[in-house]
Amino acid sequence: MPHNLYKKALLEKKTSATYRTLGVRPPSRLCFASNDYLGLSNHPAIKQELLNALELDRVGATGSRLLSGNAAFINAFENQIALDKNQEAALIFNSGFQANLTILATLLNKQILGQEPLVFADRLNHASMHAGCQLAGIRQQRYQHLDLNHLETLLKKHQHLPRPKFILTESIFGMDGDQIDLESLSQLADKHGAFLYVDEAHATGVAGNHGYGLTSSCKGRVHGAMGTFSKALGLAGAYFAGDTLIKDYLVNFAPGFIYSTAQPFPILYAANKAWNMVRDMEAERSHLQLLRSILQQELDQLGLATTPSTSHIFAIVFRCADRTLAVAEKLKNQGIAVSVIRPPTVPMGSSRLRIALKATHRIEDIQQLVEALKNNT
Ligand SMILES: Cc1ncc(COP(=O)(O)O)c(C=O)c1O
Repeated sequence: MPHNLYKKALLEKKTSATYRTLGVRPPSRLCFASNDYLGLSNHPAIKQELLNALELDRVGATGSRLLSGNAAFINAFENQIALDKNQEAALIFNSGFQANLTILATLLNKQILGQEPLVFADRLNHASMHAGCQLAGIRQQRYQHLDLNHLETLLKKHQHLPRPKFILTESIFGMDGDQIDLESLSQLADKHGAFLYVDEAHATGVAGNHGYGLTSSCKGRVHGAMGTFSKALGLAGAYFAGDTLIKDYLVNFAPGFIYSTAQPFPILYAANKAWNMVRDMEAERSHLQLLRSILQQELDQLGLATTPSTSHIFAIVFRCADRTLAVAEKLKNQGIAVSVIRPPTVPMGSSRLRIALKATHRIEDIQQLVEALKNNT
């Protein structure tokens, strides 16, 4: 039995201060630890939509979308996503992780491509993108985070190889809060004939045209955009947006789509509602911008090591996991929740406190956070 080996792996984790437990955290007075960037997870209109859906329709989808689990309202929702993302078509998945895993494994399928594709991936891409590449059995060429010169060097190094090329990146990076230069990246992809795949998990709802992500204004230059309903939309699930051909290909070849029961219908009704609310949430996005500029100024003055954030996500890097945990604990004792992010989620030596702003925060909340950081770091 393998139990002793699992035990040994767990012991190693315990000694490196990266051991995880499923603690139930009492709600904090001030929460900077959630991805509920627009405060929609607790919005009365979303809750009402769930209740309406319960009246109107069944709860469980009862089957995959290809069997008993499809409905006209889901097709219409996908059409709306495609429209807002400036793409031909969209396809809904049950979670962001599942979407990246199955979409990438399917797009990078060596048998269908006839050879191993060349995959250029930002070093800090989310684990689900790595998992998709791993499932496809391909070796990634990982470029330095956001470093387009490094990416170009790698692209040039391989340009003589007539293999399909893919570039994989997040748009706003979930752990560092910085973002791609989409214009330059798409030009580079174009120049090298590479398929550009962008994960908009942390941009959906908060950035780009009407809040629909950085790629929403980029017609024809991004070949695959995915995003989640689990962050700013406050729910669960994910979408892919791209050409109709790619949608049809995924519907026919992506196991994570074909062989999984569709999401419960009330969640999809609510996600549809949240998606449509995003369009009219410019005031919330402006407020987030205001909060971010206040926090940025304050953090600069405190002189703490931060990542070069351009968004509502900030990271204070402490390197040592123990120190990061200790600071988070002190903040927690004052009723302030922040996330502790440790390896392997981030590279070794870059443990950090992750601070995620929400449109429901007030300026006074930011001031309280800053005061607590001042006294405890
Ligand atoms: C960049 C990125 N992509 C995908 C996911 C997975 O999304 P989900 O939580 O909906 O599975 C996450 C979640 O943390 C993420 O940060």
